Amino acid sequence: MRPSRSSRARLAALLTAAAALLLTLGATPAQAADTPLRDLAAAKGKVMGTAVTGSKLTGAYGDIAGREFNALTPGNAMKWGSVEPTRGNFNWAEADQIVAFAEAHGQQVRGHTLVWHSQNPSWLTNGSWTPAELSGLMNDHIATEVGRYKGRLATWDVVNEPFNEDGAYRQTLWYNGLGADYIAQALTAARAADPSAKLYINDYNVEGVNAKSTALYNLVRSLKERGVPIDGVGLQAHLILGQVPSTMQQNIQRFADLGVDVAITELDIRMQLPSDSAKLTQQAADYKAVMNACLAVSRCVGVTVWGFTDSDSWIPSTFPGQGAATPYDENYAPKPAYAAIAESLGGGTTTPPPTDACTATYSVTSQWNTGFTGQVRISCSGAALSSWKVSWAYGAGQQLTQAWNATCTQSGATVTCSNASYNGTVPDGGSVTFGFNGSWSGSNPVPTVTLG
Ligand code: G3I
Repeated sequence: MRPSRSSRARLAALLTAAAALLLTLGATPAQAADTPLRDLAAAKGKVMGTAVTGSKLTGAYGDIAGREFNALTPGNAMKWGSVEPTRGNFNWAEADQIVAFAEAHGQQVRGHTLVWHSQNPSWLTNGSWTPAELSGLMNDHIATEVGRYKGRLATWDVVNEPFNEDGAYRQTLWYNGLGADYIAQALTAARAADPSAKLYINDYNVEGVNAKSTALYNLVRSLKERGVPIDGVGLQAHLILGQVPSTMQQNIQRFADLGVDVAITELDIRMQLPSDSAKLTQQAADYKAVMNACLAVSRCVGVTVWGFTDSDSWIPSTFPGQGAATPYDENYAPKPAYAAIAESLGGGTTTPPPTDACTATYSVTSQWNTGFTGQVRISCSGAALSSWKVSWAYGAGQQLTQAWNATCTQSGATVTCSNASYNGTVPDGGSVTFGFNGSWSGSNPVPTVTLG
């Protein structure tokens, strides 16, 4: 019997709905460890922090930021260009918001950053200043910003990225105008503005022993010798997959031996996209290696990730084609890197499987007044299956009458199908489909398919 126009329309709508329903199969979604990272870290006396964007601190993003981390760093909100975009006009809204969020959640704040060559307001960078004027601008900026949060911030990245890769001082507004002494001046001004904040110099590509980290080491040693206030060194740790420096622990230790604290301040580990299970497994090992290097040195106070979710990471826009650098994916699912961090802090020992795996699509391929034909397609990417079993519960009294390319049984509403002798294998990049007929009346909604 030819279907009527209205049943054809209904069939089309059903097929569209079914096609839209992608159901995960063959991999348990990554589970967060029971104990939040911040509690695991606190039990070890360590900081587990994240950079945040103030406007995002609601919903799932806010929940995770508050639940998992015991320290926050404003990713951009405290930079000079953010707080004083035009001279004398201050905008503290996002910085205040982040500090308030942290205080409400019992979190430390790492102030970032006071004296840097980047993200400065154009009125500052385009101005023509005498050394005395430049020094006055820098000291006033520090007094104003550090003073605003006096007694409330644990730490300040006072000077950011002062070195070139070869260990020479970076030619910046500050160095060119004031010489290397701008660093001592800035630290001294910060100490005066908030005696309780720990004062850091922060840089990247200084995680292992190399020319740049040695220049930083020599600077810190000389500042200590001169009695300039310096409490710590920040190793940013914007790393590349598989390239955690082998000398990281040794490098952290040599700074600690100078009598300063060390923090990993901006950890992320980027990869060429798309990610796959092998890359995510390597990334987890890399995160663990960084955690362990810090945990092995008592003066390493902890680790901050530069964004906890791939949806809030600077990597894709700066390194086109790269990304997936943080411990949570773009949908806030924890990645193997999350479990690796938890494990390194003494938490749950089960590493969740990578989130890319096998998926199944249930669809109704045709439907008539009392019956229907459906199919389930199981596809694998980044994983493979040697056997499979799926089940679902019919929500509207549907009854399976026949199946092919699978062995299916129905008990009450529950249907269970497992592979036939010849189609249990689903290779990485491959798929398997089985079909069935069933009866229905009233409605025929698409069920949720689960594994097992
Ligand atoms: O706020 C504007 C927005 O109004 C505009 O529409 C948009 C269009 O481009 O830009 C927005 O500003 C961006 C800002 O991040 C906020 O999202 C800037 O373009 C962008 O350049 C800026 O990037 C920041 C970067 O520092 C600048 O160098 C990243 O978010 C921030 O994560 C990154 O952080 C630095 C650390 O401070 C120091 N260490 C390295 C690290 C990574 O570069």
